[in-house]
Amino acid sequence: MGLVWGVGDFQDGELRGLITWGEDEEDPRLWEVVILATALRWHRRGVARGLKEHLLERARSREILRVVSFVHGDNEAMIALNRALGAQIDPDPNDAEHVLYMCRIDPFEARPATSA
Ligand SMILES: CC(C)(COP(=O)(O)OP(=O)(O)OC[C@H]1O[C@@H](n2cnc3c(N)ncnc32)[C@H](O)[C@@H]1OP(=O)(O)O)[C@@H](O)C(=O)NCCC(=O)NCCS
Repeated sequence: MGLVWGVGDFQDGELRGLITWGEDEEDPRLWEVVILATALRWHRRGVARGLKEHLLERARSREILRVVSFVHGDNEAMIALNRALGAQIDPDPNDAEHVLYMCRIDPFEARPATSA
């Protein structure tokens, strides 16, 4: 068990999306995104991008050097979002079947997804 932190995107009391993350136990300057999800009816309206950019801004303010997420290789939406933010995307070295991809973002080098 461990602690995760989270931020919700609320509009008029409705939860449009959610991002949660955890701190790496061995590397205090690494955060791992645990969940990023947008409610179906808000898909493709910038909610996840806004949440991830919020997390990157928060990471910068805490001098976090790396934000990592593990994404299923079929999850085109998440891969595209990470790529737009400037993530380095590689097969997860701990996943022999290469089902998962590791998306790594340096918060200080991330670019706004809108400029991609
Ligand atoms: C992945 C997910 C969070 C994206 O949420 P979203 O709010 O719809 O994403 P955004 O509107 O912020 O999209 C930002 C960018 O991501 C990419 N993207 C998002 N959805 C996409 C899709 N279905 N196909 C391709 N690219 C997509 C695009 O580059 C998009 O920018 P654009 O709309 O200007 O082209 C959402 O699809 C979701 O909740 N999926 C289920 C949960 C999940 O798989 N979470 C990840 C594991 S925890």
